[in-house]
Amino acid sequence: MGSPQTDSQERLGLNQVVEKLIRMLVPVVGKGIGMITALDAGAGEVKLDPGLIEQVLLNLALNSRDAMPSGGTIRIGTAPVRCEPGEVPGVEAGDYALLTFSDTGRGMSAQVLSRIFDPFFTTKARGKGTGLGLSTVHSIVREHGGAIRVESAPEQGTTFRIYIPRMVDVPLRASEPG
Ligand SMILES: Nc1ncnc2c1ncn2[C@@H]1O[C@H](COP(=O)(O)OP(=O)(O)O)[C@@H](O)[C@H]1O
Ligand SMILES: [Mg+2]
Repeated sequence: MGSPQTDSQERLGLNQVVEKLIRMLVPVVGKGIGMITALDAGAGEVKLDPGLIEQVLLNLALNSRDAMPSGGTIRIGTAPVRCEPGEVPGVEAGDYALLTFSDTGRGMSAQVLSRIFDPFFTTKARGKGTGLGLSTVHSIVREHGGAIRVESAPEQGTTFRIYIPRMVDVPLRASEPG
């Protein structure tokens, strides 16, 4: 599939980008699903391609909608986090803007969970799913130098955590140490 589009990444406030995209998601998920947002004012700035982040949120929202056929709630949050070495499996130590996306849907078995990022893996009926949503999400997150974690269990809902490297300004030093 496409090569990394690093040249369309811009330095942006994660909250501003997410706020704009959430407005687009409301009609996508439909009336029976509530959306609650909790954007931490300190989430900070990240280098990202807004068009690709739109694809991430859209794919996550469509999956949550499908997992909640009789309604439910989607929660979207941001927060600044610092990960220590080994603290979060698969996430390198460093400063991140954390984007959390969770739903109160049917959740997944461990068996399904282990395959969700595989291209063409779907549990949906023929014509309803392509199995490409989460593999696309995964590659977009990787293109941003980030990482994604998922927690889910049957009937317990699903939570995705996306770690995007946070831009931290290094204070200028008057002189190099001797
Ligand atoms: N929020 C969710 N709740 C429950 N199951 C999910 C959720 N998101 C993804 N899945 C599972 O992961 C599979 C793969 O998702 P995806 O790659 O988007 O493909 P598709 O939606 O076309 O099936 C889905 O078929 C579903 O079984
Ligand atoms: Mg999907």
